[in-house]
Amino acid sequence: MSRLNGPNVVLVAGARPNFVKLAPLHRALLSRSGVRPSIVHTGQHYDDAMSAVFFRELGIPTPDVELGAGSGSHTEQTASIMLRFEPTITKYKPRLVIVFGDVNSTLACALVAAKMGIPVAHVEAGLRSNDWTMPEEINRVLTDRLSDRLYAPSRDACNNLAREGIPEERIRLVGNIMVDTLLWQLPLIDQVSILRTFGVEPQRYILVTLHRPSNVDDGATLEGITTALGRVAASETVIFPVHPRTRDHLARLGLKGSLGRTHSVDPLPYRTFLALMANARVVLTDSGGVQEETTALGVPCLTARQNTERPVTILEGTNRLVDSDPESLVEALKNDGGRRGRIPDLWDGRAAERIADDLLAVYTPLPAS
Ligand code: UD1
Repeated sequence: MSRLNGPNVVLVAGARPNFVKLAPLHRALLSRSGVRPSIVHTGQHYDDAMSAVFFRELGIPTPDVELGAGSGSHTEQTASIMLRFEPTITKYKPRLVIVFGDVNSTLACALVAAKMGIPVAHVEAGLRSNDWTMPEEINRVLTDRLSDRLYAPSRDACNNLAREGIPEERIRLVGNIMVDTLLWQLPLIDQVSILRTFGVEPQRYILVTLHRPSNVDDGATLEGITTALGRVAASETVIFPVHPRTRDHLARLGLKGSLGRTHSVDPLPYRTFLALMANARVVLTDSGGVQEETTALGVPCLTARQNTERPVTILEGTNRLVDSDPESLVEALKNDGGRRGRIPDLWDGRAAERIADDLLAVYTPLPAS
């Protein structure tokens, strides 16, 4: 490849939530003249259901580089991604590296780029749970420290960054890029036929997603959750797409039986999951993205965690924290519903355009690499 025509901006994605955030920014950058974006997939998520299906549904081009890092301990995974990413930077010498969210791939690639003197832009900067036991919190804080441009989804995120001493001129409030994808995809989805496939009617079922180590890695906690789901599923349909991490722990701990009539399925494609989310009576989750998507959809959400890095979903949206013990869960699942919030400022489907405008303003002219 001729260096003159090579990519000058590298976008990094590795895990499921990254793909949903990358899609609109890649599109926005492609439409700007002089920008030659390249996609690097770290391989943190590699199953078709966790990765390739998102590329297909969201029309993301095949990655230019596949690092194939795969699973492992946090150290193994982070180190493997770093070692595999460095040659890409050496080869492309991009003007900029863009990272998304808070997964191990985010931090690994931000660190490589920063050490090699390449500016880093972080999309979804400034979120803080203030819970240092969460691997994502470590990734967030360190990635923000390494970044030159910090794109925040909400005002609280800007305030967190300012409090940590990040110069204000590097911080931009751009809104929530996941909502860009949601508003773009929702009208394209045949919701009626998806609900029919699952045999459910709007507002007559519960949708569940759980994969955080704090919920699924500990046997007693996971058993409490599955017992609660089994109880609720006796009288209302519960649809539970099971993340690979959760699936492995359910099998290892022999807990599948306690789910009762819960309708467990493999991880779902983006559009199918969005249709089920939009029509659920209530969603139970521990995902960050689902807290935001339910707020954007106006669907009640229960988050099985002690804290959230996304307080705006509670203060303005439809989210509420709930304990993971069976009594609290059954009570919340049976009684929650009907709560409506408001859509936070700038969650309007234009975050990617704002980011692209800012990047062009700061880094123009983007020279050939
Ligand atoms: C990761 C992110 C988390 C994000 C989540 C979304 C970190 C620290 N965590 O958690 O923030 O919310 O992705 O899904 O980056 N596995 C497969 N197939 C795959 C991927 C994973 O079977 O395609 C299994 C493997 O056994 C692996 C386990 O799932 O060890 C966990 O995957 P990993 O990427 O380490 O963490 P997640 O729990 O997915």
